[in-house]
Amino acid sequence: MTETATKETLGFQAEVKQLLHLMVHSLYGNKEIFLRELVSNASDAGDKLRFEAMTDAALFESDPDPKIRVSVDVQARTITVSDNGIGMSRQEVIEHIGTIAKSGTREFFAQLTSDRAKDAHLIGQFGVGFYSSFIVADRVTLITRHAGLTPEHGVRWESAGEGDYTVETVRKETRGTDVILHLRPEEDELLSGMRLREILRKYSDHITLPILMKKERWDSDAKKQIQTDEDEQINQASALWARSKSEITEEQYQEFYKHVAHDFEPPLAYTHARVEGRQEFTQLFYIPQRAPFDLWDREHRRGIKLYVRRVFIMDDAEQLLPPYLRFIRGIVDSNDLPLNVSREILQQSRDVQTIRNASVKRVLSLIEDLAQNHADKFTTFWKEFGRVLKEGASDDAGNRERIAKLLRFASTKSDTDEQNVSLAGYVGRMKDGQDAIYYITGDNFSAAKNSPHLEIFRKLGVEVLLMSDRVDEWVVSLLTEFEGKPLQSVAKGGLDLSKLGGEAEKQEEQQTDEHTGLVERLQSVLKDRASAVRVTNRLTDSPSCLVSDEHGMSTHLERMLKAAGQNVPGAKPILEINPQHPIVQRLKDESDERRFSDWSHILFDQAMLAEGGQLEDPASFVKRLNEVMLTLAGGTSRIWTP
Ligand SMILES: Nc1ncnc2c1ncn2[C@@H]1O[C@H](COP(=O)(O)OP(=O)(O)OP(=O)(O)O)[C@@H](O)[C@H]1O
Ligand SMILES: [Mg+2]
Repeated sequence: MTETATKETLGFQAEVKQLLHLMVHSLYGNKEIFLRELVSNASDAGDKLRFEAMTDAALFESDPDPKIRVSVDVQARTITVSDNGIGMSRQEVIEHIGTIAKSGTREFFAQLTSDRAKDAHLIGQFGVGFYSSFIVADRVTLITRHAGLTPEHGVRWESAGEGDYTVETVRKETRGTDVILHLRPEEDELLSGMRLREILRKYSDHITLPILMKKERWDSDAKKQIQTDEDEQINQASALWARSKSEITEEQYQEFYKHVAHDFEPPLAYTHARVEGRQEFTQLFYIPQRAPFDLWDREHRRGIKLYVRRVFIMDDAEQLLPPYLRFIRGIVDSNDLPLNVSREILQQSRDVQTIRNASVKRVLSLIEDLAQNHADKFTTFWKEFGRVLKEGASDDAGNRERIAKLLRFASTKSDTDEQNVSLAGYVGRMKDGQDAIYYITGDNFSAAKNSPHLEIFRKLGVEVLLMSDRVDEWVVSLLTEFEGKPLQSVAKGGLDLSKLGGEAEKQEEQQTDEHTGLVERLQSVLKDRASAVRVTNRLTDSPSCLVSDEHGMSTHLERMLKAAGQNVPGAKPILEINPQHPIVQRLKDESDERRFSDWSHILFDQAMLAEGGQLEDPASFVKRLNEVMLTLAGGTSRIWTP
């Protein structure tokens, strides 16, 4: 007997313990899902067997038809879910059942609150899986054998779902897995064949393997249902997506979604289509109602399930949709790809490229339909996934125009952070003589909304888009125009608002002459910090602001790149001053060179702060400011004396 053949008791990974505890307490209201999860695992195991048997037919042993069996033993108070799928080795049992090795585990635990409803939702998204058995069972036994191993390599795993579990090597004649649930005392209602059939039909009808139960009949002597020896198939066992739309009910679409997306809630929207032509394939795509907790995690499980002629090939086939559509769940079933397609082949295949292009278009149409016909749903969609879709406006050159129409931004029109302004809506409201779509980017909504750069626009009543999502910088760097109108940053380059407020422009020219002396003095004091100094009509309330060169990087983008650890060639910004402002007017008459220098630096520094930037030398700023305040206080010392 080998060492591993002995029985060992192992402790669950800490996360498993926590998950088990949470699951039993927060998901009790949804306890029926245990059956869906076990059937789903059995179905996965059958799919994996079929897939591996394509290259190694011996794995089928003499039993080539994967199926699932559900049985009840009223005396023993057990429910058993059995499959003849791929099974597990002893090592696999320990790895797969005793630990959680999913990506996003850390994020998941970090997001847990003690709010039961919220946690239940999170657990649902994370995937309750096998452990959901413990919602209804106080002891679970799993007996399994990996396909291709001999009968003495069976494994028996057992746990009460608390701190530990046992594993031992046992004999198992048939390959595959039996999961035996010893029901908790209060779960007697589940010991009914009728009840189990009801749950299976509700949650598992779309499973493509047959789910079998023993037929029952009414025994009038015993006055109860008794089991016969005859098998009965409970589900339709035909791939849902392969049926025609008219044969699929709304509820079936929803249950299938919950299965593929591991979600508790119904989807927000879906689209189902069969594409015929040079390539034939079926697409069934869903948009969830809520973003998964790990949407921003780089290792986020993404992609859709790939089938080839109804045979399951792989989960998370990320080649089938681009990253900016990573929130889509669903399946693609191809008639043309080879069955032994691997991830590498997917990357290179031109057929896959065709499917991908068509899939992107299909999803964009679905989103367009929401935008045009289902405003509420579109609002939900945008809140959850808008920032992800925006990536498409920069990444997907081929569909940029279509995506641009779907974008929504906050704007000075309502001045709230709600992103509900479309570019088309903006263009429709453009003023006479306005030829650009104006926007500002900032580190956050308040920084954008309160930026001094907006002052003149507010005064002239010109709407400006307020962009504060990180991705916005990328969007505007590639989306340079919309319907022939250029997108123009209000913080870049010189402003020509002559057509919108002609007066202001003329005035500016006069002022420039009038202020040449001041501008030159500022320039020489700030030569290391500003590439130029000029008088602006951009400002009404603030004394100064920074702008970047027409073709340069915005100061906001520069900060983002620096924060990401990139080496940015630091182009110096242009300092613009407001000639109307009392501080600027006073500065003009300042003859003390030292004080002039202090004030100039303060003007520069506060312009930097006002747009959310950071000072390279904050201590000097504070020192200069204090000095100025003291000087002022000296003049009006009453402020300082009580
Ligand atoms: N019937 C089974 N046959 C073979 N392996 C199984 C079976 N049930 C579970 N497993 C293994 O245990 C792992 C964990 O199962 P679990 O249901 O908890 O998670 P999952 O199926 O991977 O993900 P999820 O159910 O959340 O989609 C599976 O990935 C699989 O490797
Ligand atoms: Mg599972």
